[in-house]
Amino acid sequence: MNIITVKDYQEMSARAGELLIEKVNTDRKTVLGLATGSNPEGMYAYLAKKYNEGNVSFSDVQTFNLDEYVGLDEENPNSYKYYMKHHLFNHIDLPVQNAHLPNGTAADLAGECNAYEKKIEEVGKIDLQVLGIGLNGHIGFNEPGTSFQSRTHIVELDASTRQANARFFESMDEVPTQALTMGIASIMSSKEILLLISGEGKAETLAKLLEGSISEDFPASILHEHPNVTVIADEAAYAKVKNKQS
Ligand code: F6R
Repeated sequence: MNIITVKDYQEMSARAGELLIEKVNTDRKTVLGLATGSNPEGMYAYLAKKYNEGNVSFSDVQTFNLDEYVGLDEENPNSYKYYMKHHLFNHIDLPVQNAHLPNGTAADLAGECNAYEKKIEEVGKIDLQVLGIGLNGHIGFNEPGTSFQSRTHIVELDASTRQANARFFESMDEVPTQALTMGIASIMSSKEILLLISGEGKAETLAKLLEGSISEDFPASILHEHPNVTVIADEAAYAKVKNKQS
């Protein structure tokens, strides 16, 4: 794993944004894997700004998001489709038909998972997959215990994950109990992975990722077996890593 440490969230966002822009400017047909949540928000704002300044175009890019809540449609402000439109898609020239997310309102959810996995196969591999990480080491919505062999599937959300995401909902009852997510094997099939991690709240998570063992109990640990992973961490998140790289 290549670890880049930066001062703060803002620097993490700019650094990550520059990596994506370089990728897209090198190959206009880049396939990007995208995440939602707090960690990539600043990066999306950075990409929108650079697009407005004429530094990058997404007109031939394809995007595939990691996950979506079951039962929330794209008009629901808590759906990930809404998040993506609000933070990125509405502000850049990515064609609507090139932006893919699993459909959490599909009548046949299992069929939707298979179709999503197929769609990724059809465009080839994801060139660069952006990830955040949950406190419990989840990537996408792959909670501890998820098989490293998993492909896109339906998940029951952990109580801790629902609690962590409750901040966006009016009440705990409104937090969905299920989601669709790319599996660990789907994520590992990407050619390159970029993990963003920021803030003191994630310091123990990062120490565990970098210094713990590889286990399905901590899903992100599998990233040690991927040949091309970059982690961009800010100082607060990096604080509890014992063997710091200089
Ligand atoms: C979101 C996703 C999740 C988040 C993780 C961290 O699409 O797949 O794995 O990346 O829950 O979320 P934040 O960035 O809000 O701490």
